[in-house]
Amino acid sequence: MKGLEEAVGWGESMKVLVIGSGGRDHTIAWKFSLSPRVKKLYVAHGNAGISQIAECVNARSVDEMVAFAATKRIDLTFVGPESPLSAGIVDRFQKEGLAIVGPTRAASRLESSKSYAKLLMRELGVPVAEFEVFDDPDRARDYVRSVGYPVVVKADGLAAGKGSLVCDDVAQAEDAIHQLMERRIFGDSGKVVEIEKRLYGRELSFFSFTDGHSLLPMVAAQDYKRARDNDEGKNTGGMGSYSPHPWLTEEMSQTIMDRVVQPLVVGFREKTGIVYKGIIYAGLMLVEENNEIIPYVLEINIRSGDPEDQVILPRLENDLVDVSEAIIQERLHEVKPQWNPDYRLCLIAVSGRTKGKKGWYKGYPERYKIGVPITGLENVDPECLVFHSGTGFGESGQLITTGGRVLCVVSRGTTLAEAREIAYREMGKIHFNGMYCRSDIGKE
Ligand code: AMP
Ligand code: GLY
Repeated sequence: MKGLEEAVGWGESMKVLVIGSGGRDHTIAWKFSLSPRVKKLYVAHGNAGISQIAECVNARSVDEMVAFAATKRIDLTFVGPESPLSAGIVDRFQKEGLAIVGPTRAASRLESSKSYAKLLMRELGVPVAEFEVFDDPDRARDYVRSVGYPVVVKADGLAAGKGSLVCDDVAQAEDAIHQLMERRIFGDSGKVVEIEKRLYGRELSFFSFTDGHSLLPMVAAQDYKRARDNDEGKNTGGMGSYSPHPWLTEEMSQTIMDRVVQPLVVGFREKTGIVYKGIIYAGLMLVEENNEIIPYVLEINIRSGDPEDQVILPRLENDLVDVSEAIIQERLHEVKPQWNPDYRLCLIAVSGRTKGKKGWYKGYPERYKIGVPITGLENVDPECLVFHSGTGFGESGQLITTGGRVLCVVSRGTTLAEAREIAYREMGKIHFNGMYCRSDIGKE
């Protein structure tokens, strides 16, 4: 096998491949498209919006992605979503001497098993809520009846951000156990559940780059997980976001690095020998306890966030090729990230409640209709960014919906209020039947 540095055609005219097809992946591709070092940009498998800035490649399995990258002699591959990472895409690319950014299959365990990650963090002294892990629904029910506080019931495996059921009381917790473990609404991901104490505080999504040795804090974003205004409704993959996050002071960033990210990445390596490289995402609840703010970890993800990347990458002033190169070559300590201080706000439009042939669709994150024409994009102020999640082209080439989250508008303002006003104004120019947005994104 060639050494990675040797294999990489690092230079000024690179061929870059982004893996993914959602809004985050569109944002990653857009960021690479700004790099003077990128000559040709491919995305596997992309969507209608992505096809306007990159060549979309119909490679869906890891095998097809490896074959494509080898044939086209791709210089650099960057992975957006967790599933190819957990399926071992990084290991496969490395075996072929192809440069790729992301953690290996073994390192992906931090996300693909919530219980593994939580047990490890508890052992390492990283703040986590009290929790227990169950593979037997009766024992899980006994537990939620006995604890005396509200809980969150979480599918152990991957569930596209929807596998955590936040419960107000014992009856809801029992129902959550039934849905996940017995009805298996997320399939085998609910074979094992992790049940943890419900925390009350301020959520913050925190990201870091790491080459396995150096850790570089990125910035944070506020994500909105619940489907409805005032944080009501079901958990979704995310309905909107903004950055900077008002609670992320320099001091808070240092506290999170010292208490969460550093001990986790180092402790994981010392315990398992696994070197984690790429982006690490800590989903945190900042909880005030005894006049101190404690960053409790709700979850670890092995990738960047969707829709957090939509507001974070536009703030990054560095070239993403330079950062990627430093991660792969383990020179991250040489990178000085520069972040633009302006606010970015991302407002997501989803496929909402609509009438179908056989009755009503409740809308994302439940059943929704696809194939609905989208209009008005050409009227959006070019100062805003529009990233697509679930879009495609219909038979006559018109833009149509293909998913629950459809697209987003990312605005920019010197204040959060300004960014919010612009995003809602511009989203008002886009239309599709059943379109729904939360009305309180960025409303502090
Ligand atoms: P997770 O899948 O673990 O990221 O959880 C998804 C969402 O559920 C989080 O963003 C929180 O809004 C909520 N959540 C998860 N765990 C807890 C907890 N222990 N207390 C309160 N809310 C939680
Ligand atoms: N916004 C949540 C996630 O990317 O997992």
